Amino acid sequence: MNTQVCIIGAGPAGLLLGHLLRAEGVDCVVLERRSPDYVLGRIRAGVLEQVTVTLMERLGLDARLKAEGLVEEGFNLADGERLVRIPLTELTGKNVVVYGQTELTRDLMEAREERGLEVIYGAEDAALHDVETDAPYVTYRKDGAERRVDCRFVAGCDGFHGPSRQAIPIDAGQEYERVYPFGWLGILADVPPCSSELIYANHERGFALASMRSATRSRYYIDVPLTERVEDWPDERIWDELAIRLGPEAAANITRGPSIEKSIAPLRSYVFAPMRHESLLLCGDAAHIVPPTGAKGLNLAASDVHYAAEALIGFFCKNSADAIAHYSDKALARVWKAERFSWSLTRLMHRFPEDGPFERMMQVAELDYIASSRAAQTAIAENYVGLPV
Ligand code: APR
Ligand code: PHB
Repeated sequence: MNTQVCIIGAGPAGLLLGHLLRAEGVDCVVLERRSPDYVLGRIRAGVLEQVTVTLMERLGLDARLKAEGLVEEGFNLADGERLVRIPLTELTGKNVVVYGQTELTRDLMEAREERGLEVIYGAEDAALHDVETDAPYVTYRKDGAERRVDCRFVAGCDGFHGPSRQAIPIDAGQEYERVYPFGWLGILADVPPCSSELIYANHERGFALASMRSATRSRYYIDVPLTERVEDWPDERIWDELAIRLGPEAAANITRGPSIEKSIAPLRSYVFAPMRHESLLLCGDAAHIVPPTGAKGLNLAASDVHYAAEALIGFFCKNSADAIAHYSDKALARVWKAERFSWSLTRLMHRFPEDGPFERMMQVAELDYIASSRAAQTAIAENYVGLPV
């Protein structure tokens, strides 16, 4: 097979990029190792910045997002006693939309036939070749047969554990990483959310987050030591802990019910730079990971894709290689600011094992300052709604 761009990975980054390129007549194919059901079965976050909503609008795939997404004009920080509301829209004129990543991926998947986007599921053992030339190719196995895609560019949208970043010689780039000493235990339950707006809590006992998927489906998290296992956390123990950590005001509105999904995820900050190596562009989790505290993962994938589409469309449709040359610098400029915000909010809202009474008082004082300062709230708000692309 010959194409202009071979995209590896049919998560949000790969599907968004594929649709954007097809819409401009750039020939591409998406290789996904898993099945559609497997991809949709992944439980992920669901807070969309305007950049992500704008891409779905540009593709004309925003109908369900507009009908079912929950527009949030503020969110809350809690210190165990009180709630401090960050009035996002009042301070920035923008909002965020709560709409599960699974649903966004479903919208992109369901549009692939009518939009002529070729996505090959079950593409196993994808391997990148000659990415340092202007004639790279990707091999993979499908139904037991070896296949090959010749292309001009490869877009690595294959997530943190995919092969694309590994195809770049380590001396051609730099890794930056911070692994956090706790994980997030998350539950999904078909009960009404305890609050119409998200609540991030830093309680003496630890972190909690109250989120939602709809008016009838809630998503909650607490941080737990990395030694904990899901089996150690029956539902009732989680509900009890949430009621304590979220504070009395939120606890009074918690509706308990059986979890329909329960899992522990580790937290990491990670960046690989540069995000382009000759004919290979990295997008999304393939290039960077953020702790979920700032709700940036999906939105950074979207801004990477915004820049990658601009670069590839410029190359193929406007005969200009400028945007390709500047892709990594432009994407990383936004990635690093989101990494800083996610790290900073994680530092503020979690108890670290090495922290003593002084560090705890620094957190209490910072939350007290935020409660009293419009400037401090504005700094948080403009990062949370997403910095401009
Ligand atoms: N060959 C083909 N596809 C692969 C391979 C491979 N060798 N390895 C991984 N993939 C696929 C995965 O199955 C997945 O569907 O690449 C896709 C990567 O998708 P994501 O991991 O969702 O990454 P991305 O599209 O960048 O979206 C980032 O997803 O993980 C969340 O928190 C993250 O919200 C953020 C978003
Ligand atoms: C979620 O709803 O899953 C969610 C929301 C906000 C976050 C992380 C996860 O910061």
